[in-house]
Amino acid sequence: MKTFRQMQKKKTNAEPIVMLTAYDYPSARLAEEAGVDIILVGDSLGMVVLGYESTVPVTVDDMIHHAKAVKRGAPETLIVVDMPFMSYHGSHEETNRHARQIMQQTGAHAVKLEGGAEISTTVRALVSAGVPVVGHLGLTPQSVGVLGGYRVQGKTAVEAKTLLEDAHALEDAGACAVVVECVPAEVAEVLAKDLEVPVIGIGAGKATDGQVLVYHDVLSYSPHSAPSFVKSYDNSYERMGDALQVYVNETRSRQFPEHTFSMPEEEKKAWQQ
Ligand code: KIV
Ligand code: NA
Repeated sequence: MKTFRQMQKKKTNAEPIVMLTAYDYPSARLAEEAGVDIILVGDSLGMVVLGYESTVPVTVDDMIHHAKAVKRGAPETLIVVDMPFMSYHGSHEETNRHARQIMQQTGAHAVKLEGGAEISTTVRALVSAGVPVVGHLGLTPQSVGVLGGYRVQGKTAVEAKTLLEDAHALEDAGACAVVVECVPAEVAEVLAKDLEVPVIGIGAGKATDGQVLVYHDVLSYSPHSAPSFVKSYDNSYERMGDALQVYVNETRSRQFPEHTFSMPEEEKKAWQQ
């Protein structure tokens, strides 16, 4: 069983932490078999699996439904589940109820929340209730409407300073790790050096304590092109499309099926009389 303590040790030993999203049984199983350290059931679910245009429509129930399947596929891996849009912006009571539903129903090890200093009291309330919390700074897709698009964050000196303050606020509130998305490599490097807890980057350069990518981006398992910082290790959408085309063609030409069942000869005779 992997733990956040082990992730902390990896940071101390300068061993990169590998995080990958997964959303269902086979993706989780492949991630666990590949040896990833942390599986994130990201609310990117909304875009890469459910076909929404942003993560905003994703619900707590959506997250739970998919996280349960991930847990079945990866029983030995650390699992973090995103709290979706506005599920942690009401009362602490409501936030805690959503976190409890996620933790109890899915068997996840932690939840992840987007935001900095403005959510630090929420993070503190969750941690004091026994819920491990991962933070998420930089590009925070749930706020795409406020940010005005999916763009690099922390490019100015003022923004970089705010990012560092936010990261410290999360750490002080008890976050066990912080994801930092789409920020200049220099800023992410300082962040990783400054914080005690692991800083896991996505589009944040090489110097973070670990990397996280979206499953469908790593495999190019999507009809849409991935962000520029992604490295794709396969062209699975294209390959799967080709395979399906062969199935369609072979069925139309009766080349498929090849394997068939038949009756024993004597039964066939008896049946035909
Ligand atoms: O939802 C997600 O996949 C994420 C990662 C991009 C960090 O939050
Ligand atoms: Na997310």
